[in-house]
Amino acid sequence: MEKFVINGGRKLSGKLRVESAKNSVLPILAASILTNEEVIIKDCPKILDVLNMIRILAFLGVKTRFSDGNLIINSSGINGYAIPQSLSNQLRSSIFMMGALLSRCGKAELAYPGGCEIGLRPIDIHLKGLKNLGILVEDTGGEIICVADKMCGGEVYLDFPSVGATENVMLSAVTAKGKTEIRNAAKEPEIVDLMRFLNAMGAKVYGAGTSTILIEGVEKLHGAVFKPVSDRIEAGTYLIATAITGGEIELENCSAKNISSLIHKLCDNACKISIKNDIIYLKSGACRKSFSFATGPYPCFPTDLQAPLMSLATVSDGVSVITENVFEMRYRHVQELVKMGADITVSGRTAIVKGVKRLMGATVNAHDLRGGASLIIASLNAEGKTIVEDINHIQRGYYEMDKKLRSLGADIKKKN
Ligand code: UD1
Repeated sequence: MEKFVINGGRKLSGKLRVESAKNSVLPILAASILTNEEVIIKDCPKILDVLNMIRILAFLGVKTRFSDGNLIINSSGINGYAIPQSLSNQLRSSIFMMGALLSRCGKAELAYPGGCEIGLRPIDIHLKGLKNLGILVEDTGGEIICVADKMCGGEVYLDFPSVGATENVMLSAVTAKGKTEIRNAAKEPEIVDLMRFLNAMGAKVYGAGTSTILIEGVEKLHGAVFKPVSDRIEAGTYLIATAITGGEIELENCSAKNISSLIHKLCDNACKISIKNDIIYLKSGACRKSFSFATGPYPCFPTDLQAPLMSLATVSDGVSVITENVFEMRYRHVQELVKMGADITVSGRTAIVKGVKRLMGATVNAHDLRGGASLIIASLNAEGKTIVEDINHIQRGYYEMDKKLRSLGADIKKKN
């Protein structure tokens, strides 16, 4: 098992370029099978989740290759619609293949998806949405079998604005006969990106970014060259990492508007932030002040930045109150932060964080992707050596995090 070894206490300083968004690239990879023509995803990050999604595509007979950081995909040889459990349980996003395979082959079979253990993560909203499009769904408890004899547009109401369910319904509706309306749709920037990608392939999707998405089914989609939106969660992670060390950073290829909820919290914390075009510049404040926030669907504070921002709260003056409203089990990093000297009490969905002067190095475990990132952030502040174990989770979503942090002056090494 690989681990990161970090000696804390160094101020971060420098420039970084933010990658394309993981949560945009993954559904786009699924959507790329909707055409026989070539699809090019520009600046595609080689993170583990993307590599695992590529393994699923390869299993189905799809050809992919990286060239100059771009991923080239050709699905003309697709020869299957069933994904074995050994592949689907590697990542949550394997579920996107359900909508995409239904569109492409009229059938889809896959085991329940894997991914971070941050809650129950059922797929009932996905399945209900697909049923509304006339798809027959058989859920055997371990495997889901979907058949679209007559896939036709319909009205879909999502009981919760689930990001994945919105994307799955979009993927199946683009080639369904007639019109589909998705109500209470998720509004995340990555949903807008999926619409932009599908429309670049010839689809007719309108309204993504609002709570009603309209889709007019088309018969055929064509190839496209597409640059995904930048990763707002990666950007946020490096902003917070810089703030906890008292440093300064310039981030390129950012959309500040997509993380405005975080930027406000960092300003509450006394950071100075300026924005010019796609560049965010952060200079840490002389002191760190406590702040409170509650996660929720976009444009509320993103659940994926809850753990990273909690690390900053652990060393900010006063009491911060954090409420996790999206996932019911997303506090597994708390026990690890406490090992590092943090003062955190969790009651239900709320965490009360009392700021301490400084954290201490310890051996901690990355239980999930963003919780793992929060431990790296905490270790940058901590006195002495921190060992973060189980970093596979972190590498699912952050490309070369150790190398990037070293370029900013951190003392971090990857070890076996
Ligand atoms: C996506 C993101 C993930 C982010 C999350 C919330 C991707 C690849 N992943 O995950 O990084 O943390 O959005 O912003 O884009 N739910 C149900 N039934 C369902 C579907 C969801 O009850 O059928 C619940 C979930 O358990 C969770 C909530 O709805 O409590 C939100 O989940 P959802 O928006 O679907 O998240 P994901 O698409 O899995």
